[in-house]
Amino acid sequence: MKDFRQTNNTIQRQIKSRAAKNFSPSDGFIRNNRLTLDLTYIVNSAENDPFISREELDKLAPTVMEKHRLLKNGEGDCRDKDIPMLGWQSLPDEITAGHLDEIVATAGELSENIDIFISLGIGGSYLGIEAAFRALTHTYFNQLGREHRGDAPEIYFLGQNTDPDFFRDTLDLIHGKRIGLNVISKSGTTTETAIAFRILRRLLEASGGGRAAELIIATTDKTRGALRQLTAQKGYKSFVVPDNIGGRFSVLTDVGLVGLAMAGIDIHEFAAGFRNMKQITDSDDFWANPAAVHAAVRHLAHEKGKRIEVVAANSAAIYQLGRWMEQIFPESEGHRGYGMWMSPSMYSEKLHANGQMVQDGHRNILETFLRLEESDNTISIPPDPDNLDGLNYLSDHRRDMNFVNQLVIDGPAYAHFMGGVPNMTITIPRRNAFNIGQLFYLMEHSVALSGYLAGHNPFIQPGVEAYKKAMFALAGKPGSEKDGTAIIDAIRNMNRTTV
Ligand code: PA5
Repeated sequence: MKDFRQTNNTIQRQIKSRAAKNFSPSDGFIRNNRLTLDLTYIVNSAENDPFISREELDKLAPTVMEKHRLLKNGEGDCRDKDIPMLGWQSLPDEITAGHLDEIVATAGELSENIDIFISLGIGGSYLGIEAAFRALTHTYFNQLGREHRGDAPEIYFLGQNTDPDFFRDTLDLIHGKRIGLNVISKSGTTTETAIAFRILRRLLEASGGGRAAELIIATTDKTRGALRQLTAQKGYKSFVVPDNIGGRFSVLTDVGLVGLAMAGIDIHEFAAGFRNMKQITDSDDFWANPAAVHAAVRHLAHEKGKRIEVVAANSAAIYQLGRWMEQIFPESEGHRGYGMWMSPSMYSEKLHANGQMVQDGHRNILETFLRLEESDNTISIPPDPDNLDGLNYLSDHRRDMNFVNQLVIDGPAYAHFMGGVPNMTITIPRRNAFNIGQLFYLMEHSVALSGYLAGHNPFIQPGVEAYKKAMFALAGKPGSEKDGTAIIDAIRNMNRTTV
């Protein structure tokens, strides 16, 4: 029997993509890798009127395209401390093959000297990297032999929480191995990431035989901040988080690219996906611009009372992109009482849990399916002479698991629509770096339009500061005394009720 690793197409992609060089997609490749947005269960009607009619979309179209024009011209409410945060728009065209080669070379060099690579970061300095990594690699990447990972080290993520057991378990797993780090923080002072870095840096300094600096990469602001200062002091190899790109829009910057290159992912192909979707969503024709249509549907859904968006995938790999969407949409949209709670889900799994609520609960839900059309592998369903489970109706017609896995979108899309949950489907033809890049850019453009339509700046996140203030006050962080005393008093004076 053949070794399963030789026939698993995800593993084969990992092996091949390590060797990939510059990527230039043919017209045929672009045609075969077109992302589509299906609005059937938005513009049709389950009872009386359609949830959103074509006419309503046509009516909103000029406003959406006006916001689109503002974005393209670098106008509108887009500044963070005086800097227009629109660098993500030009990045796909500006990023050079030479820069990507430099990242691949750095990753290659570090990779030769380590068994384990740890990416440290939180929010935009974490989620996009993990989402793209998991979307494109084997489910059990770290458990595969190195040759089946395309010669990549094992990949871990830390600094995204302060759970001591999670941290300790990861330390146990990496014990005695050769470790390399990329610490990613634009500000350089984010507590969760800084704590993780301090611990791991010490570990490397104690065990690295004076070579710790060669094993650490820092990705941070070009000139400012604590991490930039430490980098200069210690002589770390460093990469840059651009001034004009916020964390959640930064996966195509060094923030995302270094980690993805470490995992052996073809970052040239990834960038080409961004470029292609940028070209598509640059269109000034509303109906030819999927970002504009996507933003319009979501905006009208919000106006019609939808407050939850279930993002459901039929692929464990693609589900991870829903986790990234869970950041970019709520962090950009959740301002001044606006926004939809985003709930990434894996179907069928969740159909047997909150699926009941989607079908029959409070009707404040919009649903977006992320359909992976072609899985990497095919799993057939064997015939059974006894047919006690009644599945021969599938196996007799050579209907495989892949066939069923399309129905876990087709079935719920119809049933949920009939139950009063309008839904749309984004189809991703297959798992490759090009398509994942396309999806990222599509969503970046859509959420930017969404913020403009809602009337607020989608590139800042002032709400995130409130928890930090309270946490710093409780921790007694120097400098937090002013607000801190009021916070501590307010908490102390609350009516304690514990049962
Ligand atoms: O999207 C964002 O801007 C945030 O989620 C940040 O990326 C996150 O807070 C991490 O910040 P920093 O990179 O400064 O550590």
